[in-house]
Amino acid sequence: MDISIKQGTPGKQKTACFIVAVYSGKHLGDVAGALDKTSRQALSRLVKRGDVAGKLEETLFVPNATGLAAERVMLVGAGKRAGISSAEYIKLVTKVATAVVEAGLRSALSALTEITVDGRDEAWKIRQQITAFEGAAYRFDEYKTLPKRKPARFARLGLYFDAADPVAEEEARIGDSLVKGLQLTKDLANTPANFCTPQHLAEHARELGRQFKSITVDVQNEAAMEKLGMGSLLSVSRGSEQPAKLITMKYDGGKAGDKPVVLVGKGVTFDSGGISLKPGPQMDEMKYDMCGAATVFGVMKALAESALPINVVGVVPATENLPDGKATKPGDIVTSMSGQTIEILNTDAEGRLILCDALTYSARYEPDVVIDIATLTGACIIALGHLTTALMGNDDELAEDLLNAGQETGDRAWRLPLWDEYQQQIDSPFADIANVGGRPAGSITAACFLARFTQDYRWAHLDIAGTAWVSGAKKGATGRPVNLLFQYLRDRVARRDG
Ligand code: BES
Ligand code: MN
Ligand code: ZN
Repeated sequence: MDISIKQGTPGKQKTACFIVAVYSGKHLGDVAGALDKTSRQALSRLVKRGDVAGKLEETLFVPNATGLAAERVMLVGAGKRAGISSAEYIKLVTKVATAVVEAGLRSALSALTEITVDGRDEAWKIRQQITAFEGAAYRFDEYKTLPKRKPARFARLGLYFDAADPVAEEEARIGDSLVKGLQLTKDLANTPANFCTPQHLAEHARELGRQFKSITVDVQNEAAMEKLGMGSLLSVSRGSEQPAKLITMKYDGGKAGDKPVVLVGKGVTFDSGGISLKPGPQMDEMKYDMCGAATVFGVMKALAESALPINVVGVVPATENLPDGKATKPGDIVTSMSGQTIEILNTDAEGRLILCDALTYSARYEPDVVIDIATLTGACIIALGHLTTALMGNDDELAEDLLNAGQETGDRAWRLPLWDEYQQQIDSPFADIANVGGRPAGSITAACFLARFTQDYRWAHLDIAGTAWVSGAKKGATGRPVNLLFQYLRDRVARRDG
């Protein structure tokens, strides 16, 4: 999706669809008013008649209005002129984007930045429009053969302003980078596990390394991981024919001495549960168990595209979790890279087993902060549903910054407690730690496990089990929490430079 900023006389804008606001009480917005004059009241006649009265989320396509260069106008009910809430605006632009895409249009020009949103600035409104159109326009049809000629899809979003606007230009540039990151995340996540293997992820990392001078890629194989002492990570890949990979992507956008943010993404390309086999229904969705990894890829891409001045390292432990004669069995004890021994009571709690070694490994980058992203626990869906990412960690300031980035983008997270009292649930009679802590507070005990490997740095954990993809008829990856993390990194840069 191409994004551009447009200005000039409204009537002369060439577009498949000019999207303009009508406020409640049948008041045309500024741009709608200008189009109305040029078209000899073609729009106000419809509004007076009540075809659109300005109620929030009403939409009406008006084709071929006289005198306009636009092929059609879309009148959009924008509610109270004095202002609407953030949630109302997000819902509105999502509805508009969906309607434009469903109408089969390939481009549109939006004047919805003129709507007043309580407590939000122009940059925020631009971002929301861009992500709404990206979400509506995204398709994953690589594996469909029919129809032979795929219908043309929405490809160009224009954002209309009446005068030149450097803030808008910059926000469109950044938005374009974010869109490219989101699309990479979704593409990798939606790719089935027979194609999206640890090897596939490694190749994709190398591709990013070739594409961007600012990204350096390193891939460690199982022999190298053995040498590093990653007995926990390797215990997960034992049952698989596909060798595990430890992928590192270093983005050097900042100064040489700046301590990096390290992002660690769970990359289980398929989670069958292993010997603790999962039940059959919806097991296909465990191809999404690499959404943490896909998020790291997407953020790296967005960073490189936007050339954000910051250093970030992405670490992705990638493996399958399958049952086999060689597979790890419940009761087995393994030694992690940290030296701590782990009793594996349930081979389906494999995410923490690969993350703990990746987290220990991350210390070598002398991180300022480490953030891991993982589809870690089904319990997270029970706690927070599909709306909210769970956040835990050992540093209040980092947690606060991540929560704020979530609020700013709408890609929201909520914090759960990580108190020491929970730690006893993962004590083991035979090893230093057990890999499961029973049913109560399952997301918290999973994070407690990780906390035992992150004591040397500031750390946060995002459990995206409920938010990384949607099930059902519209099954597909959401791209979350790329937006949240990219915003967090932008905020860091702004705080440092501003
Ligand atoms: N990848 C799953 C978690 C998951 C399940 C995410 C369903 C999204 C939807 C993870 O590896 C897992 O299987 N966790 C177990 C942990 C349990 C054995 C302690 C779970 O949640 O059931
Ligand atoms: Mn599992
Ligand atoms: Zn898993």
